[in-house]
Amino acid sequence: MDSSIPAVADLLAEARFRFGQEFGGDAPQVAVCAPGRVNLIGEHTDYNQGFVLPMALPLVTVVVGKQMPGLDVAVVTATADADEPRRVDFVLPPPGAPLSPGAPRWANYVKGVIQHYRGPPVQGFRAVVVSSVPLGGGLSSSASLEVAFYTFLQQLHPDDGDLVSKAVACQQAEHSHAGVPCGIMDQFVSVLGRAGHALLIDCRSLEFSAVPLSDPALVVLVTDSNVKHSLTGSEYPARRRQCQEAASALGRDSLRGASVEELQEARSRMDDVTFRRARHVVEEIRRTLDGVEALQRRDYRRFGQLMVQSHESLRDLYQVSCSELDQLVSAAMEVEGVYGSRMTGGGFGGCTVTLLEASAVQRTMLHLQERYSGTPTFYVTTASEGARALTFDL
Ligand code: GLA
Repeated sequence: MDSSIPAVADLLAEARFRFGQEFGGDAPQVAVCAPGRVNLIGEHTDYNQGFVLPMALPLVTVVVGKQMPGLDVAVVTATADADEPRRVDFVLPPPGAPLSPGAPRWANYVKGVIQHYRGPPVQGFRAVVVSSVPLGGGLSSSASLEVAFYTFLQQLHPDDGDLVSKAVACQQAEHSHAGVPCGIMDQFVSVLGRAGHALLIDCRSLEFSAVPLSDPALVVLVTDSNVKHSLTGSEYPARRRQCQEAASALGRDSLRGASVEELQEARSRMDDVTFRRARHVVEEIRRTLDGVEALQRRDYRRFGQLMVQSHESLRDLYQVSCSELDQLVSAAMEVEGVYGSRMTGGGFGGCTVTLLEASAVQRTMLHLQERYSGTPTFYVTTASEGARALTFDL
């Protein structure tokens, strides 16, 4: 069963080769990478100023390139939706003038990052992008592209190096140029992820702490359902609005800090759907903190129970799961040695995350393959480092 993850060195070699091919034998001068992420618990809590617990993945987006005289930009990607061109050429506007989004869609992440870059004005460049983060699979391929590009620009024209502001700038790029009103989780962990650790992020204060996750007896298995329902685009902003309505009904700025009792008391001031959305968020914030405590005690059984509760709440109260994700989660829970499993990311397709004993990995993958009606892709992952510059002698 294929669960292999390409090495960063191989992606780098591919990017370098393509650069030469595309730009008449020219060689790139700088190289960077930024990871995708999987969220262990704390789903749909980031834009409610709650807590999240993601980890950076060994799946990464690599960017190689060099600065060019003038204001011409050329970017080539090895991975894009089939209907889109793989190369984009544009001219940078004068400093302060907007760089409008347009086609191809993937280039909007690049343009957004240029627009929100916090360093000196960006000059012309050539770049090639190669990624092992599956596109649209719920593992934050877009955040990894934004953060990789930001890191690339830092090599050409350094900014002040503030990492939290970097994550916020990448989030702004996604808001303004991809039109997705995402929270801060994906960009944050892609920038600040730590090898061997998950990151507990307080999405209100943007403070964070690294939670050890490197027990060799434990594995984090990511299973891509390989389905993507078209609902994500409209349902995500709808969930944000419902949460805001619930917070207003409680007289609060956000659902952070609200209790279930407080929600119950305000129940008559909101409709049933709004109530259910808010209940998920309030309980999920609590589960995330409980989960961190369990991980610190190495109480994986408890963490697993919280993962399953999170999934059920996302399915029944928040209604962002789908039958394929539900199938994968229930199948995983049938296997001896599995602690917990849940959908991860925005929902309506994408991936599940499963915490299990290392010795149970093979039988779990076999069982999921057998029980799932579709074709899953597996990633046996380890908590990895955030974005970084690379050297060509990797
Ligand atoms: C998407 C968003 C994140 C977060 C998750 C749900 O991945 O980009 O900001 O809201 O959904 O937890």
